[in-house]
Amino acid sequence: MTESYIQQLFAERIGGRQYGKSTAIYKFEKIKRAKRAALAARPHTELIDLGVGEPDEMALPLSVRALCEEAQKPENRGYADNGGADYKRAAANWMLKVCGVPGIDPETEVIHSIGSKAALSILPAALINPGDVALMTVPGYPVFGTHTKWYGGEVFNLKLTEENDFLPDLDSVPKDVLKRAKVVVLNYPNNPTGASATPEFFRYAVEFALKNKLVIVSDAAYAALVFEGKPLSILSVPGAKEVAVELHSMSKAFNMTGWRLGFVTGNPLLVKAYGDCKDNTDSGQFLAIQRACAATLDHPEITQKIAAKYSRRMDLLVALLRKLGFNATKPKGSFFLYVRTPKAVGDTKFKTAEDVSQWLITEKLISTVPWDEAGPYLRFSVTFIAKGESDERRVVGEIEKRLAGLEFEF
Ligand SMILES: Cc1ncc(COP(=O)(O)O)c(C=O)c1O
Repeated sequence: MTESYIQQLFAERIGGRQYGKSTAIYKFEKIKRAKRAALAARPHTELIDLGVGEPDEMALPLSVRALCEEAQKPENRGYADNGGADYKRAAANWMLKVCGVPGIDPETEVIHSIGSKAALSILPAALINPGDVALMTVPGYPVFGTHTKWYGGEVFNLKLTEENDFLPDLDSVPKDVLKRAKVVVLNYPNNPTGASATPEFFRYAVEFALKNKLVIVSDAAYAALVFEGKPLSILSVPGAKEVAVELHSMSKAFNMTGWRLGFVTGNPLLVKAYGDCKDNTDSGQFLAIQRACAATLDHPEITQKIAAKYSRRMDLLVALLRKLGFNATKPKGSFFLYVRTPKAVGDTKFKTAEDVSQWLITEKLISTVPWDEAGPYLRFSVTFIAKGESDERRVVGEIEKRLAGLEFEF
């Protein structure tokens, strides 16, 4: 069959003429394929999925009821664009009540996003010229970096390691890179390491940004999911509003991943620029969703209940992994547990975290996500399917049964 001329038209950023021809299989596809093969080989065994990066339950009835009501109102029918006054107000109020950040002006310092992912893909349009550098942490959520490169910019990676508490050493950025750098992207609580920032680290980051004339994009998608203390916003640090925007999301803290709503808040000039670029990207989230989410934001106890569930599950999983010899430490928030991988189990040797993850799926029908960018680690997510506390114990007990008696070598 002759090749369609369309093949000649693809942009270099997605592979140009070679688009779609690569036989390389990427991490998440490898996991998917291994899960399929393991289930085909053992169709009667439960696959325990600790790899999923989203809540296992649906939004609470309060949110669903509000959406049903709002969806019936004619005034909610049209393009929302960058509007949605109720949600802006609720967001500013939530920043004060939950994150302790006073003085957010809902009109000039908040604009919604169709999820944080969308905001991370739009913000580079506002900041990145060809040759500009974005400082990003690895391992991490890559969306801002992908779009930076698509605009002709460069990404400089800062490694997150156990030695630095998974906080980047900003002073390690070489001078010539720093000169071209415009943005630092931070994400705490962090995916995948589960690490939390400290007020001292955020103060240091704000000072660093001011000194080097950088913008901070703080991806706070997991900010409200804390197991102890209060959620920490970079905007609670003095001076942060001069340099930072923060991205919040309904997805993880309110079990609303599919609803696609979040907000960008902080420096008004940056928020405005985000809004101008967003205007050329989408026409805003359905106002009924925005209003239902505004009502939801007024109930931070929802998040506290969800966080308590993850904390409980985390306790069970950490205890089990420690018993098996893993160096597992309970994070202070998020739903991710990040642990260094074993070098071997019995006679089976592992070179990478990906090897370990494939072995766990194939041999034990336990799915995790491997990360090899800054040492070999597995990410266990406590969003596994379980209905209630006794079922949670059953699932973790099942993991124990499958792994008990194995000699892990670290
Ligand atoms: C670090 C991080 N940022 C952003 C997102 C995207 O979240 P949202 O559902 O708000 O687009 C995710 C989702 O997995 C994430 O892990």
